[in-house]
Parts: sequence; C-alpha cells; structure tokens
Amino acid sequence: MTDFKALIEADTGQTARTIQILDAGNFEDWLKGQPDSIRAIAAAYQFVGKPDTFLLLPLVGTKSNDKSVAGDFSVVAGVPDHEKLDPWSLAKLGSGLPEGKYRLHETSAKGSLFGWLISQHEFDRYKQLPDRQGPSVLLVKDAIAQRDEAVRQAQATAMVRDMVNTPAADMGPDKIETLVDKLSEKHGGEVKVTRGDTLEEHFPMIHGVGKAAMRAHAPRLIELKWGKADHPKIAIVGKGVTFDTGGLSMKSPAGMLLMKKDMGGAAHALALASLVMEAKLPVHLHLLIPAVENAIDGSALRPGDILNSRKGLTVEITNTDAEGRLVLGDALTLAGEEEPELIIDFATLTGAARVALGPDLPAMFCDDPEMADGLLQAGEQESDPLWQMPLWSGYDAMLNSPIADCVNSASGSFAGCITAALFLKKFAPDSVPWAHFDTFAWRPVAKPGRPIGGEALGLRASWRFLQGRYGQ
Ligand code: BES
Ligand code: ZN
Ligand code: ZN
Repeated sequence: MTDFKALIEADTGQTARTIQILDAGNFEDWLKGQPDSIRAIAAAYQFVGKPDTFLLLPLVGTKSNDKSVAGDFSVVAGVPDHEKLDPWSLAKLGSGLPEGKYRLHETSAKGSLFGWLISQHEFDRYKQLPDRQGPSVLLVKDAIAQRDEAVRQAQATAMVRDMVNTPAADMGPDKIETLVDKLSEKHGGEVKVTRGDTLEEHFPMIHGVGKAAMRAHAPRLIELKWGKADHPKIAIVGKGVTFDTGGLSMKSPAGMLLMKKDMGGAAHALALASLVMEAKLPVHLHLLIPAVENAIDGSALRPGDILNSRKGLTVEITNTDAEGRLVLGDALTLAGEEEPELIIDFATLTGAARVALGPDLPAMFCDDPEMADGLLQAGEQESDPLWQMPLWSGYDAMLNSPIADCVNSASGSFAGCITAALFLKKFAPDSVPWAHFDTFAWRPVAKPGRPIGGEALGLRASWRFLQGRYGQ
C-alpha cells in the first residue's frame, strides 16, 4: 500500500518548488506580471489556467535569496476555483509532477489533500508500471490538521480499488475473510464466520447462491463487530459476489468479462468499516459481508427453484443472475435483528442502475428522508455525488409469484434497479432507517487521479454522513 502519510509534510520552510494556483478568473492577472520568456512558454503550450492543466516553468537566470525555494523550476496549475480547492483540484498534479517537494503559493491546500494522495496510488500487483513517478510531497501550513483524515480516505479508497481490480482467483470468499480478519486484529474487533453447508439452516439464500462453488470457494457470511456495546449501533452490509457467472441463467461473455468486480459492494463496506475504526468513531459497528461465488455446477441453483429465507419468505428463482439481492436479503434480515440505528448497504446490484445513471453516479435508495438528505448533502460536500432513486411501492407487484411469496427477478427489464431495491426492502427491517447503494464500483473512462478500473463511489459521502451524525 502506498505510504500516503509520507506524501504530506508540515511546511517548516524546507526547500521546495512552488505551485502557483490559477483559474479562469486570475490567469490574465498572473500573465501580465510575468516576463516575456514565461509569457512565451505559456503561449507555446497554450496554457490558460484551465482545470487539470499545469506547466513547469524554468527558474534559470532568476536569483532568489529565498532558501526555501528550489532553484530548478516552478509550477503553474489551473483549478476550477483558486480560492477554494476541492478534493480533486490537485489530482492531476499529484500524479503528473516529477518527484520532489512542493508547496502552494498563496493558496490554502485545505480540502484538496485527498486528490494529491490518491492520485499517487497505482495498482501494480501484477505489473511493474513503466512511467511511474517517484513520490511528490506537498508541504502544507493550515491544512496540516486535515492530513490524518485525508490519509484515511486515501487508504480506504485505495483498498476498494485494489480489491476490485484483483482477479477473482485471488479475491475469493476466503481472501475477503482474511482481509476482515486483518482489519479486526488491527482494531480489536470480533469476527464471526458462518461457512459452507452450515449456512443452509439460517441463511438459506446465501447458501443457495453459493452452493455451486461449495468445494472450490465455499460461501460464507462474514461478520465483524467493533466498538463499545453502549455506543449507538450501526450496520454496514456489502455484496461480496467474488465472481458472477450469472449461474445457470448464464451471462454472455461480454457481460461476464468484468464480473470480478461483483464484490465491489463488499469492498466499499469493508472500506467504510475501516474508516469508522481508524477514526475511532463512537459507534458499535456491525459489518456483514455475504461472500459467495455465483458459479455453475450440478448443484447450482436453478430457475424455478424456490428458496426459503432467513426472514421466512419463500422466493421463486426466476433468474439465477439476480443473485446479489438473495445474499443481501439474508444479511439485511440478520442486521435488522440487532436493532441498529441505521443500516447502509453497498452492492453492484443491477446493470439497470448503470443504464439509468451511468458509471459515475451511484443510485441511492433510502426509506428515511432525513438520512437520504444527509447522504446527498455529504456527497456534494465531498465531491462524491449520489443520486436518489425511488423505493416506489407501485412496483411491488412486479415481484409477485403465483407459487411463492415473491420472485427474485421481475419479468421484463423496466425499472430494474427499483425492483431490485424493492426486493431488498422486503428483507430489511421496517423500523430501521436504511440506505442502499447500487454502485458500479468501476471507472470505465479515466479522470485525473482516477484510473480505469475499480473505483470507490459513494464511500466518502457515506463516511462524511456518519461522521456528521456520530463524530465529536
Ligand atoms: N452483478 C450483476 C449486476 C451488474 C451487471 C452490475 C453489470 C454492474 C454491471 C447482477 O448480479 C446482475 O446480474 N443483475 C442482473 C439482474 C437481472 C437478472 C434482473 C442485471 O442487472 O442484469
Ligand atoms: Zn448476477
Ligand atoms: Zn451480481
């Protein structure tokens, strides 16, 4: 893991290069104050202070008595608003600048440390990346108080990306269990794992989905409890389908290609739990991860089978590819039995959520208006946007079955992410505020600090929400 903490230092006058932060509003003023040589370079590179662009300017010939300024080059960089940086303002710089130390000139780095850090993280487990830069260290003054929080967020985000990027062969249910164990050891939690055929009695839907991979990658429900019992209880749940073939309702090759990422919800849940524990948020945490592979063999769940559930509802399987809602259903029921103050779940649940909102916006469903507003606001504050979708009961009937209490997949594809959320709602407790994130966990097109691959979406938003509600 990248040593994020080493990438930000308190500014005590060390020798460093300076970064002048510009935007469309103050670019012209800056340009006017420059010598002809610098104006010529800016013109040659067509640098006009646009966000996510920067330029290295030589300092050759200038004589400075300021020992804190490195004498080779300085940087000018464009951002959307030079007076208020956001978490992504410095991402292009973090990943693009040559190795060395830097400080911002006349601009506070407040609010921007996360992007500086996460942009320097790469997934290099399977390949030595050729154009890798050495670390860039940012020297900060008033923003130093934000360093620990930024480091925590970067670590959690890197964890989601790395877990999702790791192929299913190296990120099976056993590996997720190991990661939960490690986190628990670090923070002093308690782990309980219900594994293999013992799932059948109390978690029949988790068992049903996972049984085809029983021998190679045994299914399990991984639970972690952490924190003082007299603190408010919260539950975090994540879909941990370590590979989704679709089961007997098999996916096409193109549809299956990215399905190593179907444990993305579990990665988000684990990362959010790690934020809670790292920051020692005064809550009693219950993390639940149903970890299964949706595989195909002679014992696989069939279309037409009817499963019982922990809740007691019977479910007619109309599509074995709608497996996430089954494993989450049993986990949500268990979460509710402990009567927490709130439940948040994360899942790569439907392709329909992507059709509706695209890859960048997680669909957020919530049965409690105050919690929904809090989450949306936190998303805006963190530049980690969410979009709320309706748990509209008018579509409940789409899940009716003639021979069981419900089907797992509505016929037809209308409102696919809504009917999936309505299915989950049947298994979540009525009396506990509950938010469900249908997230893509994947970035198909790169942005500064955000390479193609696994991605955390809605993680920093939900963390900010929890901090706002339970932080001191
Ligand atoms: N893991 C998929 C959802 C998914 C697919 C997320 C592609 C992101 C990208 C899920 O288990 C699934 O297959 N859902 C089906 C549900 C359908 C059978 C009702 C889907 O969305 O097609
Ligand atoms: Zn599926
Ligand atoms: Zn799935």
